[in-house]
Amino acid sequence: MNKPRHIAIIMDGNGRWAQQKGMPRIKGHERGAEVVRQITTFCANHPDIEVLTLYAFSTENWKRPKMEVEFLMKLLDNWLQKELPTYQKENVRFEVIGDISRFSKKLQERIASTKEATKNNTRLTQVLALNYGGRDEIIRACTKACQNGQVDEEHFEKYMDAQLGDVDMLIRTGGEKRISNFLLWRIAYAELFFSDTFWPDFTPQELQKMLEEFARRHRRFGGI
Ligand code: IPE
Ligand code: IPE
Ligand code: MG
Repeated sequence: MNKPRHIAIIMDGNGRWAQQKGMPRIKGHERGAEVVRQITTFCANHPDIEVLTLYAFSTENWKRPKMEVEFLMKLLDNWLQKELPTYQKENVRFEVIGDISRFSKKLQERIASTKEATKNNTRLTQVLALNYGGRDEIIRACTKACQNGQVDEEHFEKYMDAQLGDVDMLIRTGGEKRISNFLLWRIAYAELFFSDTFWPDFTPQELQKMLEEFARRHRRFGGI
């Protein structure tokens, strides 16, 4: 039976969820943040899951209207402030991948202080992908690896933004069937799961169903 050590989620469908209800897109992001807490708590209480990586803002999401981008930045700052007790209670370590140097100083400080405050937590590592692009991460890692004259598969991960290991399950909510530049290096042999549920309606029960299917899948990794 397969054990899911690392789960990664493309949390898609916030905007459509809100628009379907006649609300502005940002209401979907607000609700989506609540779902992040529920899913993180579920994973922190699961015996096998060690890493949960969540796609929160891509290198391409800067193309959105300024007002939506600004709202997402503010939401993240408020959320990290508000959620610190949850990280501590659930024994969750907070980690980030992506190039956050484009964020405001205040937000960068909030991210750094949340990482510092949770660095000794051991139950689960929750990774937020922020201003993240799979290509961007690979190029930055390659640059460092070349500088050290060490470009090989075995040592490559140590040059990545964080050492998380390969993804076992990649989930995308919101109905689209694409990768959108997420975690390209680490999903080489991930099992893929696509759900039509918009992220704000995603539940631990639906995740549990996917885990049951994952356990039954036959992973071969190129063997027979
Ligand atoms: C995903 O939901 C969240 C972010 C990209 C920040 P979307 O905002 O992409 O929602 P849809 O796909 O437009 O419905
Ligand atoms: C992927 O969703 C990024 C996040 C969930 C943060 P998008 O909504 O940006 O992806 P596309 O544009 O549908 O590919
Ligand atoms: Mg989307």
